[in-house]
Amino acid sequence: MEYKNILQEQEGGILTITINRPSKLNALNKETIEELGKAFVAADLDESVKVIIMVGSGDKAFVAGADIKEFSNFSPKEGKHLASQGQKILFDTVAKLDTPVIAAINGFALGGGLELAMAAHLRIASDNARMGLPEVSLGVIPGYGGTQRLPQLVGKGIAMEMIMTAGMINAKKALQYGLVNHVTTQEELLTKAKEIAGKIANNSSVAISAAIRAVNAGFETGINGYQVEINEFGESFGTEDFEEGTSAFLEKRKAEFPGK
Ligand code: COA
Repeated sequence: MEYKNILQEQEGGILTITINRPSKLNALNKETIEELGKAFVAADLDESVKVIIMVGSGDKAFVAGADIKEFSNFSPKEGKHLASQGQKILFDTVAKLDTPVIAAINGFALGGGLELAMAAHLRIASDNARMGLPEVSLGVIPGYGGTQRLPQLVGKGIAMEMIMTAGMINAKKALQYGLVNHVTTQEELLTKAKEIAGKIANNSSVAISAAIRAVNAGFETGINGYQVEINEFGESFGTEDFEEGTSAFLEKRKAEFPGK
């Protein structure tokens, strides 16, 4: 499928999705959110895709936020709809995707941009990256999961400070906070993302999806993550990947997972 605001490139099992509105610092307008949502769902259904990397085009921004121009005259009702639709079609979709998603933060990740990176399963950043949730400086609050995912990643106190000051932190600080897992130079960002993706892709995709569901369950209210883990663990024993993984270990050879 052809998209207007995103580019896609697949190398082996690794799909790179590039958010491509460089003249607007890759800000997320409605169309881009819809296209990204569709691309993630399609990639998840494509058995050849083992890991997804998302990055912003250009060398300045990952995503500089939701498109401010688009929502500047919204009513409370329209604001609520914007957040709920966005969370449903993109942010929650990414967080709950069975295929692992790595955000490669190559510059500004602000507002909806940081929220999108936080919806990914893990984040790495280049040393020029700047991250923040500046919404309260615009008289609004984060609406794409930021008030929930930021405290989960960095703790409540630091999240409160970042949200209330609306300030930006650099990549070094983000690493110290645990918001990103690694920091690289700009040139090495995608190489590092692909190195991690390659290690993930060597493992059982079925087990990885189960692990994503179990980890996510621990952050859902009213759901017992330990019970989800027990169920997912048990189900693994019925997969072809388990049969292959254990046989390969016992036969002292590298596993060739069928992904089933
Ligand atoms: N929504 C819409 N357009 C945006 C945008 C956003 N979130 N962020 C940047 N842009 C646009 C600018 O309007 C500008 O467009 P123009 O050339 O047509 O005027 C273009 O992207 C380049 O941005 P500019 O502000 O000129 O770049 P800069 O290097 O001076 O500043 C930032 C970079 C990221 C500090 C600044 O763009 C910014 O503060 N953006 C908004 C961040 C934000 O508050 N995001 C949260 C939204 S809820």
